[in-house]
Amino acid sequence: MTTLRLGDKAPDFSASSTEGTIDFHDWKGDAWAVLFSHPRDFTPVCTTELGRVAGLKPEFDRRGVKVAGVSVDSLEEHRAWAGDIEDVTGHALNFPLIADPDRKVAHLYDMIHPNADDTLTVRSVFVIGPDNTIKLTLTYPASTGRNFDEVLRVIDSLQLTAGYAVATPADWRDGEDCIVVPALSDEEARARFPKGFEARKPYLRVTPQPNR
Ligand code: BEZ
Repeated sequence: MTTLRLGDKAPDFSASSTEGTIDFHDWKGDAWAVLFSHPRDFTPVCTTELGRVAGLKPEFDRRGVKVAGVSVDSLEEHRAWAGDIEDVTGHALNFPLIADPDRKVAHLYDMIHPNADDTLTVRSVFVIGPDNTIKLTLTYPASTGRNFDEVLRVIDSLQLTAGYAVATPADWRDGEDCIVVPALSDEEARARFPKGFEARKPYLRVTPQPNR
């Protein structure tokens, strides 16, 4: 197990899931992906999270992002729990839930934090780019359900940065002004952003969202 940092290669693995065996890199291909862990099946916060991700699946699809969940429970437990997720949240599981009873994936991705819990995974999120490198990591405790709208917001920002040489300011939301990356000169920025930019400081140049 090594700590995974931004820019590191996302480790490959083969594992059973509710949608069959997943060879992670093959399954992902050159798409974006979210791999997220949850501590345990048949637990309340996890039930709400998995239903929420299932409800947001069209939003992940629209952004070209594949989603997979993982926990240290068995495939049989995942299948038995799926009915509860649909019952409670109204959303049937529509993405692969990886069974990791031997903790292979959990250890590869450092999802067990022994000083929090020595057997269960914490709530980790990895956003992985088309080049298989890690673009975002988040770690939440078992007691706090994640905000998956925030995960989508970050993906919007990451995809803009990848395509248009812009960064995004605090609390930015899709459609709002972006920041010209400092690496571009004013001349390069004028050529790249036909809508222009406003220099609030020499190092803080704001431009309308370029893909709008
Ligand atoms: C939950 O999903 O509710 C949960 C899971 C593990 C520990 C605490 C809460």
